[in-house]
Amino acid sequence: MNSNEKEQFESIVAASLKSQEFIRLTLGKYRGSETGLTKLVARVVQIKSGTKLSFTYRYKTKEIVKNYSIEEGLSFIRNQLGQDFLSATVFTTQQDVQLEYNKSGNAKITFAKPTLRDIQSDSKSHDHQKNRSIEAHDNPYLMALGITNSSGHVVRTMEDKFRQINKFIEILQGLINTSSLADQRELSIVDMGSGKGYLTFAMYDFLTGSLDKETTIVGVEGRSELVEFCNKTAQEVGFDRLRFEPGTIQDYAMDKTDITIALHACDTATDDAIFKGIKSESSIIILSPCCHKQIRKQIGSNTVLKDILKHGILLERQAETITDGLRALLLERSGYRTKVFEFISSEHTSKNMMIVGIKHNKSVDHAQISDQINAIKTVYGIEFHYLEALLSPNLSPNIENLIGYSKSNKL
Ligand SMILES: C[S@@+](CC[C@H](N)C(=O)[O-])C[C@H]1O[C@@H](n2cnc3c(N)ncnc32)[C@H](O)[C@@H]1O
Repeated sequence: MNSNEKEQFESIVAASLKSQEFIRLTLGKYRGSETGLTKLVARVVQIKSGTKLSFTYRYKTKEIVKNYSIEEGLSFIRNQLGQDFLSATVFTTQQDVQLEYNKSGNAKITFAKPTLRDIQSDSKSHDHQKNRSIEAHDNPYLMALGITNSSGHVVRTMEDKFRQINKFIEILQGLINTSSLADQRELSIVDMGSGKGYLTFAMYDFLTGSLDKETTIVGVEGRSELVEFCNKTAQEVGFDRLRFEPGTIQDYAMDKTDITIALHACDTATDDAIFKGIKSESSIIILSPCCHKQIRKQIGSNTVLKDILKHGILLERQAETITDGLRALLLERSGYRTKVFEFISSEHTSKNMMIVGIKHNKSVDHAQISDQINAIKTVYGIEFHYLEALLSPNLSPNIENLIGYSKSNKL
């Protein structure tokens, strides 16, 4: 066993605690005898009896927290390293330092730029510490989803996806922190068109593990083989309030839900998700739309723009802008503040627009926004925007004919 590397790691941990640069430490690759234990996460907390190192023991199905004095904590880490736990990472404001043991018991220390920079939000107080990222190491679901390999490293072809996951988590955290959900202990979320569940699992991990929220997430997905795979994986990794339901977004019967999400759901499936989110009184609605076909057929052909929009690429871009712009206005008319910005794309899609709606309680000038929407529709020659029709069925009694397939619109 290489004791120099271990001692070097221990002294970096001790020094970072002393200089208050320590943010968090994780111990992984558990090889001990406790059933179901996957990792330990240590943070500094201030409680009545003083400054402590608080260790969260993460089991497959539960978490236990134990507090130690700083000296006891350091000695505990020393005893565990290379014995029960074969990997450790300390996150400081200056660097990330990792200690890894190989099969022969030799330790290797590596240094990287700091992933986390903010002690304040991560570890000063005991109330809902905030980690900003999903860790690649010791997260069995990431391995099950094919994002990491058996050594806990991100697979090269999944690096973009992993980056996208972390970006999404960062956005989600910011939205929750600035919404009425910040102090809410329990959260309910529906992820429409959850696919293989990359973002759904990460969200569950982050909200339960880092934000300490009692979170229930339902992924709704049309492809039953993905639903089966995700349910099996959720069960295996002990995410007991994460489940996936087969079926279409438009037919999903939705109860009151805090957050509605639809990332890269196709064409009008995004509108169905927005409609369900509004009707279920979601405080936050997060969308990353994909393929804007519905108004493309109507746009521009009989207007002053027709000689510009005869070019397919310009028509496509215009259709995206107008579809999503109208979606944002319809959210605003429904009592949401909106943000439209660029989200990180992945290898799965080049679409990288994100629309976010955050519910507010201020009054809304419904008529004025409707006038704006109508004026835009007139300029572009649009007779029918699918979301608008869902929200105002009296205006479009023939919605099923117009969209070309059956919609029940039930909640
Ligand atoms: C491009 S994938 C995105 C998956 C995931 N949201 C993500 O961003 O990683 C879109 C998924 O939505 C599903 N989907 C699209 N339209 C749907 C609908 N109307 N009802 C249910 N699922 C739908 C597809 O089957 C597919 O798995």
